[in-house]
Amino acid sequence: MSADTGLDVVTGAVSYTGRSITELLLAQGRSVRTLTHHTDRAHGLGADLDVRPYRFDDGRALAATLEGVSTLYNTYWVRFTHGGASFEAVANSRLLFEAAADAGVRRIVHISITNPSADSELPYFRGKALVERALVATGASHAIVRPTVVFGRGDVLLNNIAWLLRRLPLFAVPGSGRYRVRPVHVDDVARLCVAAGAEADDMVIDAVGPEVLTFEDMVDVVRRAVGSRARLVHVPLAAVPVLTRLLGLLLRDVLLTTDELRGLMAELVTTDGPATGEIAFSEWLAAEGDHLGRKYASELARHFRVPATA
Ligand SMILES: NC(=O)c1ccc[n+]([C@@H]2O[C@H](COP(=O)([O-])OP(=O)(O)OC[C@H]3O[C@@H](n4cnc5c(N)ncnc54)[C@H](OP(=O)(O)O)[C@@H]3O)[C@@H](O)[C@H]2O)c1
Repeated sequence: MSADTGLDVVTGAVSYTGRSITELLLAQGRSVRTLTHHTDRAHGLGADLDVRPYRFDDGRALAATLEGVSTLYNTYWVRFTHGGASFEAVANSRLLFEAAADAGVRRIVHISITNPSADSELPYFRGKALVERALVATGASHAIVRPTVVFGRGDVLLNNIAWLLRRLPLFAVPGSGRYRVRPVHVDDVARLCVAAGAEADDMVIDAVGPEVLTFEDMVDVVRRAVGSRARLVHVPLAAVPVLTRLLGLLLRDVLLTTDELRGLMAELVTTDGPATGEIAFSEWLAAEGDHLGRKYASELARHFRVPATA
């Protein structure tokens, strides 16, 4: 293995999980370069963060952004098809891994999802499996970190559940609400990633929190933490796309796709193995509940409305 250059690349440092990974690496005295579509976004991570555009349009230019890099932490993903964007995320991830291999990056830490499967009908879980496969095929030293639902400052899904609970008298729980989740804190995901970056062996780690909750219990914990009086009502699965589309039209956003909901209900975002995260969702909420959901977090505004730099 080549020598450690002290420089790592973290994709999406100006966004969510990549930010936590970057903070941890910077605190360890490492130099960090980030790849993003939002090169102009204020990040507050210090002047030393080297911000570069994703160059999926040019393999050589992409490899140039990875020259002299010890570890690539890859968070890149596109949640759903919208407008022109699609599951090009799989092809782009492959390009990124190949560019990293060409540039001689010594280790790749890749963020995936719990229970990816190439046989899945759900594009997210199938795409993630294909990306993992592409990473393994490069032959690069790698770690795959598979998170469940991630919570922490800057999150979209739980923030918006809190936002809805704060404003509406009713909250629709799809189906029985008894499907399980194991929320993991974004800083735990970052810690697992950075620890995996320091290893040499190929590995796969689930990033799952210490608490296992049903979806309904999770919503209820959020409800209590934000002081909401909303009633939780069960609605049939068929009604959910109508409700989310209606809310999406009002908010000019995509709240949750039917495929994401199907993944949630099929318990694809939980695992039976030991917890790897330490921060308990309910304890975090007790401390942060007052802030959660005060402002709506738009996925479309965050990722789809600003033109890509490359
Ligand atoms: N958040 C969760 O609850 C969760 C749960 C399980 C797994 N994961 C996985 O963890 C990784 C990080 O997730 P995250 O929520 O922290 O993501 P994120 O920070 O919002 O985005 C990660 C990277 O992907 C890029 N990206 C996101 N959406 C895009 C779009 N529509 N078009 C083009 N580029 C896009 C971002 O670009 P910019 O840098 O320009 O923002 C960023 O570089 C992903 O692989 C995700 O699948 C997340």
